[in-house]
Amino acid sequence: MKEYIISLDQGTTSSRAILFNKKGEIVNISQKEFQQFYPKSGWVEHDPQEIWSSQLAVFTEVLAKSKTKLDFLKGIGITNQRETTIVWNKRTGTPIYNAIVWQDRRTADYCAELIKAGHLEKVQEKTGLLIDSYFSATKIKWILDHVKGARKLAERGELAFGTVDSWLIWNLTNGEVHVTDVSNASRTMLYNINELKWDEELLELFDIPANILPEVKSSSEVYGNTSTELGNKQIPIAGIAGDQQAALFGQMCTKKGMAKNTYGTGCFLLMNVGNKPVKSENKLVTTIGWKIGKDVVYALEGSVFIGGAVVQWLRDELKIIKKSSDVEALASSVPDTDGVYLVPAFAGLGAPHWDANARGTLFGISRGTSDAHIARAALESIAYQTYDILKAMEADSKTKIKELRVDGGATQNNFLIQFQADILNSTVVRPEITETTAMGAAFLAGLAVGFWKDVKELEALWKEDKRFTPKKNPKLKEYIASWNRAVKSVIYWSA
Ligand code: G3P
Repeated sequence: MKEYIISLDQGTTSSRAILFNKKGEIVNISQKEFQQFYPKSGWVEHDPQEIWSSQLAVFTEVLAKSKTKLDFLKGIGITNQRETTIVWNKRTGTPIYNAIVWQDRRTADYCAELIKAGHLEKVQEKTGLLIDSYFSATKIKWILDHVKGARKLAERGELAFGTVDSWLIWNLTNGEVHVTDVSNASRTMLYNINELKWDEELLELFDIPANILPEVKSSSEVYGNTSTELGNKQIPIAGIAGDQQAALFGQMCTKKGMAKNTYGTGCFLLMNVGNKPVKSENKLVTTIGWKIGKDVVYALEGSVFIGGAVVQWLRDELKIIKKSSDVEALASSVPDTDGVYLVPAFAGLGAPHWDANARGTLFGISRGTSDAHIARAALESIAYQTYDILKAMEADSKTKIKELRVDGGATQNNFLIQFQADILNSTVVRPEITETTAMGAAFLAGLAVGFWKDVKELEALWKEDKRFTPKKNPKLKEYIASWNRAVKSVIYWSA
């Protein structure tokens, strides 16, 4: 039977649509990049209309490519770049400002003021997050404070806020449905993850009216049906999860203690911590993984801001490789970095250091340092940053992570993943299908519409491709000590 679930994966640099069959296999993928706007230093914006039009374009394209029709779609799963903030007029459906992207740091000073004023603990207690411009709350406030007439419109109940999932669903349903799911809500810094509701005290702190917020739903249920813009057939929109939580689910990290790392532009390491939130003492964030039925799963998360992006830097700025895939051969052409360390703090340092002012630094270069040493140091920096997060996570959860599931583009780089396993002294496992973000959203939607029966059935669809077991290297301790010294120096320099 030709029946499918479609996953709409709206990421930071591109919109994708992926069609999955009942065996959990990918039938086809369509992808479209869209424009990034950098109006000022530290600002990053997207055009919400382009987010929507590119998403719609790949939706129809993947169906055409697969020679299938809307009739064969049993459900839609949505997964998205998280925290990115859109405010639109409910009456006209028009955004009142560009989408302020998660990477945007325009509210960093305001966040520093909030921390100075002593709000950190309360915010962490309620939301699981650390006060940072990364999350949506201060971005919403910025729009309400800076767009002419915005506060008035909000007072009259004419504005809607949403993360990208809400924006897509609003458009897919022709303005009928204004919802989000718990995983996305937990990234706004306005959602109380203990009580599972928007937090009035925080709404007051950030001066955000409750009437602009979407209704918060579970991650797997029918939220509404597509409207006629796509054709006459109404397709149930049945799954939502922020992309990193969707990947945790797609990697089938369904049991407490299981963890995954996604190597994209940045790296996002998440660990399932079970049905109760675990407070981080090591500067990680606590987030909601997903909610299926009444069952809420929490996760600890650490984000590295520059992961795979360091390879783009080697390619586009240093120009020492032609294409990203050349980096493995170059890095492997030398036996080690010969004492060179790169701390790629190009956008500050994320977890567990959280230093917004840190700058990237290259350490230990000598007259003999070559492009190969630098390429190797760049790749190793991805693994070291992951190491820092994993150690913080082990300390918070009081468990040793024996196995890390990995996905994302850079996982095709065997050198990197082997080095990762060695440094962590944990087994690292790459699945057959590394499109786990889209797969997670498809699974969530498929469960809601009965395309798949239960989580057990899904677990059987996850298949291992390659297992990297840690190799002993007497120098590893020394490597880690040098990395730690390098990070300390970067933080010292930024102060
Ligand atoms: O928190 C930001 C994250 O969701 C972005 O993911 O894959 O779009 O870079 P990605």
